[in-house]
Amino acid sequence: MALLRIQGGSILNGEISASSAKNSVINLIAAALLADEPVTLLNVPHLRDVSTMIELLGHMGVVVVINERMQVDIHANSISSLKAPYELVKTMRASFNVLGPLIARYGEAEVSLPGGCAIGTRPVDQHLKGLRALGADIEMKEGYVRGTVSGRLKGAQIDFDFSTVGGTEHLMTAAVLADGVTIMENCAKEPEIENLAEFLNVLGADVRGAGTSRIEIHGVERLHGGRFEAISDRIEVGTYLIAAAASGGCVGISNALPQHNAALLSKLREAGADIKVEDGRIALDMKGRRPKSVNVVTGPYPAFPTDLQAQIMTLNCLSQGSSSIQETIFENRFMHVPELARMGADIQLQNNNSVALVQGVAELVGAPVMATDLRASASLVIAGIAARGETTVDRVYHIDRGYQQIEERLQRLGVDIRREAS
Ligand code: EPU
Repeated sequence: MALLRIQGGSILNGEISASSAKNSVINLIAAALLADEPVTLLNVPHLRDVSTMIELLGHMGVVVVINERMQVDIHANSISSLKAPYELVKTMRASFNVLGPLIARYGEAEVSLPGGCAIGTRPVDQHLKGLRALGADIEMKEGYVRGTVSGRLKGAQIDFDFSTVGGTEHLMTAAVLADGVTIMENCAKEPEIENLAEFLNVLGADVRGAGTSRIEIHGVERLHGGRFEAISDRIEVGTYLIAAAASGGCVGISNALPQHNAALLSKLREAGADIKVEDGRIALDMKGRRPKSVNVVTGPYPAFPTDLQAQIMTLNCLSQGSSSIQETIFENRFMHVPELARMGADIQLQNNNSVALVQGVAELVGAPVMATDLRASASLVIAGIAARGETTVDRVYHIDRGYQQIEERLQRLGVDIRREAS
């Protein structure tokens, strides 16, 4: 196992470029199973979650070739197994989303139920309800979901009970090869969903309305091959912007899509950052100022993303004043709180652990801390950068799921950080 050792007190300064969005790319890889010709994904980020998805396809006999420019070629026609085993699905829930494409294209699939997750129970009831509406027979057996359909799936009306990003994406990929029209209502509107629809349409699908609450899918006979590059990673971008703000620094991030970070940018301005947005670039300058506390309520896009909640909490820990942070998406996404407290943060949890009241402190002090999930670990790295003294963040494998070359990028921005075996 590895850890990150950080000497605190650097002020971030410099320029980096955003990666392609992890949460888009892993769905594009699952969706590539639908195509009967080779699909090429460009500029794929070097991340553990992406490798897990590629490993899963390889396990099913799909030919996946990656070159040194991180171009990934996927040809699903060589598939020899329609089973996604527990060992792979348990390490990344999103791999469950191969179920729909496999049923849609091959008429059957067996995919492990993902099980629990550190940040919440995360059921898949909406996914299964939608697949059943499309005509799939769904059975649960020994921890696996077995889905079958005789002939093709059938277009249907699907009304989500609440906003689900993965559910919307999964059912979109199942419905593209269904007979007839599928109407999905109360859909999630995250940019990654729109990106997936664009990708499917490049391959010959007919998906309309993605990015709104109503998506209409006209089923087609087949999907052909194509080339595609995912949008940039708004959560990676947001994490570096918060890190820069917490250190009082000044950074520019190119290859960004500022419109996808509107909720965060407004909070960072409220915290006192000067932010300039140009085409594809965000520049943040904190001018050495101490941030002001900002209240945050997470919610489905375009509200403040849950995936930046831990990071903004670190900013609030260091800010002038007190703030409340309410987490509305996941029931257990405050696991960074006890770790931040070990560094001197003043945080009280309330309302059945759904609200954190943060009283800003003048400084955090370096300490050994433990990463518990991907975004929590990012919040600890930010805390380590801003703290006085040395911080070690253990269990770095969490951060490697979603941040490529984090220590190289932070070093480039002036942070004293290195990776070591733990
Ligand atoms: N939910 C259900 N039933 C379902 C589906 C979801 O109860 O059938 C619940 C979940 O338990 C959760 C809420 O609905 O409480 C929202 O879950 P959603 O389906 O929207 O989330 P997801 O698809 O599992 C994606 C991202 C997460 C991100 C959330 C919310 C990917 C691969 N994952 O998860 O990203 O937090 O949307 O925006 O896209 C991360 O990158 O760190 C991460 C966790």
